[in-house]
Amino acid sequence: MPKSKAPKRVTTATFSEEPRHDWNSEKEVGVFLASLIRLTKARTVLEVGVFEGETSKHIIEALPQGGLYTGIDINDYRKNWKEPDGKVVSFLIGDSLAILPTLPEYHYDIIFIDGDHSWEHVLSEFKKCERLVARNGIIALHDTIHLEGPRKLVEYAAHYGYKNITLNTPEIRGLSLLSRSF
Ligand SMILES: C[S@@+](CC[C@H](N)C(=O)[O-])C[C@H]1O[C@@H](n2cnc3c(N)ncnc32)[C@H](O)[C@@H]1O
Repeated sequence: MPKSKAPKRVTTATFSEEPRHDWNSEKEVGVFLASLIRLTKARTVLEVGVFEGETSKHIIEALPQGGLYTGIDINDYRKNWKEPDGKVVSFLIGDSLAILPTLPEYHYDIIFIDGDHSWEHVLSEFKKCERLVARNGIIALHDTIHLEGPRKLVEYAAHYGYKNITLNTPEIRGLSLLSRSF
């Protein structure tokens, strides 16, 4: 039998099942993040957990010419991936916990964390992202209403002085924005 050329799929604590459509964030999450990028004139955005790239496409489109998008995923599920001229788009495949320490410090205006949602994982990712986010930058997290890991992370960040706001989303999954002035 010929060997399958399909890449091996890596499963993680919260993504051990077969990939399914609702791993995509609600469309409104992408649209909202795009508005945030435009309003804040963000130039550098990092997304942890890309999946099919439904949110990435809104982020990339909203970036100005010369802007930088970096996406990380442990698997490559991307569909209809576009890299428009004049923007630097980089997709890094691997475990976020191994890749995040290799990225430049205080570099990203917005970081969107939406990978493995277990508490232990999201906490480690958040701690690594703290040294990557620019001064006055924003760390956004999805699923902060209906999943325990991201929800606990917002409480954790608030305890350590982050200002935070949680927006309801159409499927009541939640999108939280965290910023710090220290
Ligand atoms: C909910 S989906 C991301 C959805 C996407 N952000 C969006 O808005 O449509 C979560 C993704 O995280 C990836 N993932 C899970 N564990 C990971 C890890 N340890 N490192 C990197 N990516 C991971 C999964 O492969 C999956 O594609």
